[in-house]
Amino acid sequence: MTDPRPVGIFDSGIGGLTVLAALQRHLPGERYIYLGDTARLPYGTKSAETVVRYALRAAEFLAGHGIKMLVVACNTASAAALPVLEEAMTVPVVGVVAPGARFAAAGTSGKVGIIGTESTIASGAYLRAVHALRPEVEVVARACPLFVPLAEEGWWDHPVTHEVARLYLEPFIGDRVDTLILGCTHYPLLRGAIARAVGERVRLVDSAEAVAGEVADVLARGALAGPAAGGLRLLVTDAAARITRIAHLILPDVAVNLELVDLAD
Ligand code: DGL
Repeated sequence: MTDPRPVGIFDSGIGGLTVLAALQRHLPGERYIYLGDTARLPYGTKSAETVVRYALRAAEFLAGHGIKMLVVACNTASAAALPVLEEAMTVPVVGVVAPGARFAAAGTSGKVGIIGTESTIASGAYLRAVHALRPEVEVVARACPLFVPLAEEGWWDHPVTHEVARLYLEPFIGDRVDTLILGCTHYPLLRGAIARAVGERVRLVDSAEAVAGEVADVLARGALAGPAAGGLRLLVTDAAARITRIAHLILPDVAVNLELVDLAD
């Protein structure tokens, strides 16, 4: 038995395409419907109440498209809204925080760093998730808000990005952490600059990669795996030229066709 319904993926914008790309690599036979709430981007600087409201609206919208599960690719929305989304949805919901924390906790010798948006770091969600698994682990967390615009600018290997990385990541340099969680959709794009700043000995945990294994498990457990047909729809709430440009940067091998939708609240 296979289930032809699409997997829904939701992000505040287009950065969650890093999660989509990881899912397509691990589960190429699934159909995907991606919603980027580009009209309301960024979520990472907003209050938890606002992020919960936006995330609920987006999840309801995707539910209306007959999805078989929801992947909350946005770290900020996962951190602020996952319990509310799980309660509201009738299909399984997977966020990026728990899988990222699991990867980090499994491989650390006791010192974990976390970077993310201001909202994600303020929520303490990654800290709680790591401590739920390994209470003895020392955690150092820091918001890196400039990383999102730098990634969107395509400055992945740019002197300015290297300098910003050096300044932000100072608390993680030396032997202060052995593992660093990239707790934001955009940070895998800056992986090279981040690795250069913290040094090769620090293991980087990409929450996009971590979530793919979790999604595969949920599909297998619920007998929800797709019929190997593949397929992708990309929906956005604002389709400014910049959004298309960033989508091409993140998915260079995909014919990006953004469909504009209105979530009207
Ligand atoms: N998608 C957000 C995250 O992963 C980053 C962009 C934003 O602030 O909305 O936290």
